[in-house]
Amino acid sequence: MEKKSIISIKDTLLKFIVADYKTTLLDAALNSNISLPHGCKSGACGSCKAELIEGNVKTKSSEASTTEKTILLCQSYACSKKMIIAYPTNKLNIIQTQNKKEKSFIPKEFSLQVVGNKSVTPLVKELSFFVPPKLNLKFQPGAYMEIYDNNNTAKKYSIVNAPAKFNNLNKNIIKFLITKNERKGLSQFIHDIVKVGDILKLKGPYLSFQYNIKSNKPILAIAGGSGISPILSIVKSALFKNKNLNVMIFQSVRNRQEILEMNSLYNLKERYKNVSFKITLTREELNQNSQFLFGRVNTSLQKVFKDLSTHQLLIAGADAFVDASYEHAIKLNANENNIFFEKFSSN
Ligand code: FES
Repeated sequence: MEKKSIISIKDTLLKFIVADYKTTLLDAALNSNISLPHGCKSGACGSCKAELIEGNVKTKSSEASTTEKTILLCQSYACSKKMIIAYPTNKLNIIQTQNKKEKSFIPKEFSLQVVGNKSVTPLVKELSFFVPPKLNLKFQPGAYMEIYDNNNTAKKYSIVNAPAKFNNLNKNIIKFLITKNERKGLSQFIHDIVKVGDILKLKGPYLSFQYNIKSNKPILAIAGGSGISPILSIVKSALFKNKNLNVMIFQSVRNRQEILEMNSLYNLKERYKNVSFKITLTREELNQNSQFLFGRVNTSLQKVFKDLSTHQLLIAGADAFVDASYEHAIKLNANENNIFFEKFSSN
């Protein structure tokens, strides 16, 4: 087993080094500032799947090197000095586009002070940090940071802000929406323990939302719960560049107490003539006279759209939500090459 491996991505100039056996191929790529598709980093969502063309890997679950040709980068360690991985063309195009822009988005470790941690719904807290301008944090729309607890366990959370000019943070406050998970973990730490004034470790920014927006197609942006964070970041940023973009934001939440960022949705609608939004409530009784839709995405989306063949879609939320929305969009004739998603798997 070699200590240092060079991994190349087929049909690109992208390469990265894995310096030890304890770093997964995915982490090695991210640490080298190469953005590759991923989601949960725990082997659950399948987003980091790639073809192994040359070389061998071992996986987190097996010491022996695998003969499998389809690997999960978040579960694989390098076993060969030289390795090549490959992606299907549609994914490869996005990887190349995103990595062209990546130069100034170098992930770093930050110690930031909490300046807000308030409940915005019964299940969600808005956590915000002051980022001193001298830290020069730059990020891409839809990026995430890893937030660490006192035991040095991390979880990824999408940045709600849209980057300002030159990809800087506007007004020095970075904001996240944290949904409380019943199980113990980072979200409980943030909900129950973190107070204003605390200093937390964060690492990033990283980008796992692989998208490539074209200005000539309408955007349907579907958010499940706090999936609204990367959706707002991407949509706002796209609108800064092209105020005529045709965008509908479709938010799915349990009930009206769980609606997130409604003020942002109204502000966007007021500011841009081609922006609209719909909110579907999955656990409320049907009310014919309501401004809301009722039911899960796979029943409510078709009340608004009969055909999505000309749309590009952004979907963000929990794994099952993204899968259901994706499947339903395909049933409504969406082209799979125009569907981009971010899965918030628990890890
Ligand atoms: S399976 Fe690897 S990122 Fe989810």
